Amino acid sequence: MELSKKMQDALNEQIKEEMASAYIYLSMAAYCESINLSGFASWMQAQSNEEMAHAMKFYGYINERGGRVVFEALEQPPVEFAGPVDVFEKTLAHEQYITGRIHKLYALATEEKDYASLGLLQWFVDEQVEEESTAGEILDMLKMTGDKGQGLFMLDRHLGSRE
Ligand code: FEO
Repeated sequence: MELSKKMQDALNEQIKEEMASAYIYLSMAAYCESINLSGFASWMQAQSNEEMAHAMKFYGYINERGGRVVFEALEQPPVEFAGPVDVFEKTLAHEQYITGRIHKLYALATEEKDYASLGLLQWFVDEQVEEESTAGEILDMLKMTGDKGQGLFMLDRHLGSRE
C-alpha cells in the first residue's frame, strides 16, 4: 500500500517536531552548562540524541514506504531559562505537546486505515508515556530540592549518570 500524500506530509511534519525537540533539549543542555549543572547538561544532551533518533525513525519509515522525506525549517530554540525547575517544567510541557501530536498522527492513520503507520505510531504512543513519566518524576524531585543547595547538587550527579 502506497503511503498517502496526507500521511506523508504529516510524518514529515513530525520529523520536524522531533528535530525541533532535539534542538530545544540541546539548548537546555547549553543553558545547564552555563550555570554549571553538568549532570543536567549531560542528561539533556542524551535527551537531545534520543529526539534525533526519533526523527530518524520517521525518516527511515517514510523511505521504507517509498515516500519522500522533506525537511522543514527549524525555529530558534529558547536560550535562557529561570533555573532547573523551569527547564523541567518546560520539558514536561513539551513532551505533553509531542504526545498530542503523536495522537493526532495516530488518529489520521486510523482514519486512513494505514495499518503499517499505526504500527510505527503505537511505538511512539508507548514512548511518550515513558517520556512524560520520566520528565514528571524529575520535576517532582526538583520541586523538593528547589533551584539550589545540596539536594540539587545530588540530583545533578544522579542525572549525570544517564547512559
Ligand atoms: Fe520524541 Fe521526547 O519525544
